[in-house]
Amino acid sequence: MNSQTMSLASVIRAEEKLLLPTYDRQRVLFTRGRGVYLWDSKGKRYLDFLSGIGVNALGHGHPAIQKVLKQQAGKLIHTSNLFYHQYQAELAKRLTKISGLDRAFFCNSGTEAWEGALKLARAYARANNNNGHKAKWRLLALDNSFHGRTFGALATTGQEKYRHPFTPLVPGVSFVTFNDLDDLKRQFDGSVCAVCVETIQGESGIRPVSREFLQLARELTQKSGALLILDEIQCGLGRTGKFFAYQHYGITPDIVTVAKPLAAGVPLGALLTTNRVATGMHPGLHGTTFGGGPLACAVAIEFLRQLDGLLSHVSKIGSLFIAQLKKLQSRHTSIKDVRGMGLMLAVELDSSETAKSVVSQLLEQGILINRTHDTVLRFLPPYIIEKKHVDEVVHTLDGALDKSTNIRALKGKPRKKSERSH
Ligand SMILES: Cc1ncc(COP(=O)(O)O)c(C=O)c1O
Repeated sequence: MNSQTMSLASVIRAEEKLLLPTYDRQRVLFTRGRGVYLWDSKGKRYLDFLSGIGVNALGHGHPAIQKVLKQQAGKLIHTSNLFYHQYQAELAKRLTKISGLDRAFFCNSGTEAWEGALKLARAYARANNNNGHKAKWRLLALDNSFHGRTFGALATTGQEKYRHPFTPLVPGVSFVTFNDLDDLKRQFDGSVCAVCVETIQGESGIRPVSREFLQLARELTQKSGALLILDEIQCGLGRTGKFFAYQHYGITPDIVTVAKPLAAGVPLGALLTTNRVATGMHPGLHGTTFGGGPLACAVAIEFLRQLDGLLSHVSKIGSLFIAQLKKLQSRHTSIKDVRGMGLMLAVELDSSETAKSVVSQLLEQGILINRTHDTVLRFLPPYIIEKKHVDEVVHTLDGALDKSTNIRALKGKPRKKSERSH
């Protein structure tokens, strides 16, 4: 079968038969993208306010990214990490400069970056165990967090729905109530090797960690020689209008993980850390076949070059977007909360039914967003959106909320006698 001529229905039929049923996909077959838009197999255009869950930060088909991709694909795609190529050090230089950290490790995805961070924390603690330090091995993670799908990531993910089917998970993890300073103090002791925090929880509904909580985590870890690990896989690399979300909090972590937009859609993840923590690692202790290949790294260098010129735009357009969403909140009682930073925004609704209906109405009208944590509409648009795109999304959302409210009101009303079936 020629993929050019496959219809949505035939793709769905084939996938149902041939793929592991891991996804509950929307019934849309995308065939191309350009800028902030995607087109499906029938030629319908969609305004992309999800950007592949925060990956396509420069939109689709960015000319500078395409150029690097084409040039590098023609030269060298893969070498393995047994040999050198020119781009890992160059990319590490740029990432360390913008993060205030010293060293990088490259891998292929968010969950792998997180696994690397957890392993490094344990390895660092073990390497420093001989110096009279108390044994450190426990990891403190947060309620409702999400760090990925591999076993270490699941073990530190504070959501039973993801963990339960796969237990027993990696031991040594305890969960602290989100933003609860007393709980953090209660659970923290000399056996903790790292405190793990998403600077802004993404999957669980765009919830920024509080300044007080993050500062306390920084103080406690610094005093005891434990590490503060931040997961910025979703909220890092410009998403909040700064290179890293922790830069809004005035602290620097010992390790930060990034992935999603790093290589503009080519799989690439990284952890960044300090020279001190890097002493916990030595050749052979950790590695990857594909991670940090020349193609992905060359593209990531170009992504960071483009990002430089976009940060203030992300802040400005993000402020405008959240202000419009807050205005909408005053018109709709179904909106419980509007929150987020930069272009990582959420509208929390009062029911999962309404949230579901709004996402499908927007899809119908050619706008892509998604629903997370049941009742939360999540907006992760590309950094290149303009005011007219925000206006369109807010206007369409307004109409969709009106419609959902009307449907709910009708459902709530007892039907007229003449409408009852006999
Ligand atoms: C905060 C966070 N950590 C980790 C991950 C896992 O990343 P990946 O899906 O690339 O493995 C995600 C993915 O959504 C994420 O949002």
